[in-house]
Amino acid sequence: MAIRNVLKYPEKSLSQPSVKVDVIDDGIKELVKDMGDTMFHDVGVGLAAPQIGINKRILVYDSHAMDPEYEEEHREITALINPEIIAGYGSFISEDEGCLSVADYRADVKRYERVTVKALNIDGKQMEFDADGILSVIMQHEIDHLDGILFIDRISSLKRAMYKKKRMKELKNQK
Ligand code: NI
Repeated sequence: MAIRNVLKYPEKSLSQPSVKVDVIDDGIKELVKDMGDTMFHDVGVGLAAPQIGINKRILVYDSHAMDPEYEEEHREITALINPEIIAGYGSFISEDEGCLSVADYRADVKRYERVTVKALNIDGKQMEFDADGILSVIMQHEIDHLDGILFIDRISSLKRAMYKKKRMKELKNQK
């Protein structure tokens, strides 16, 4: 078990597009395990590799995060390799969205209501599935990370500017 450090805005790897994974080797499997440990440690429902400084197209999520009777001991990780949104339907406001890489801030984000995702699983098997509800939001949020996009890039420029100002002040005070 290895918990990695989750990078926070404005770390560079968070704004860089990630590259596709060619071969799912032991190194990738180890990385996926660490991502899962890190996600649970930091209490998130999803985590993308660039958040721990690795610009590869890998995400993990908690497959039980959408259970109404969620129990922590039943948590289970699902990894997706090279995931893509191939179709999006409808739109809704994802309320109070947050991110482990955007400290102490939440905002409403406009998202697709439902998406079709294409990806490889950890065994390299090609899959395609539809996601709605919280899973749809997780997919859009995490796949955005793989393109160097944070949820604060999808809010009004005024709100974003306010967040950036607050964050810069915070960083300055840390020094
Ligand atoms: Ni995030």
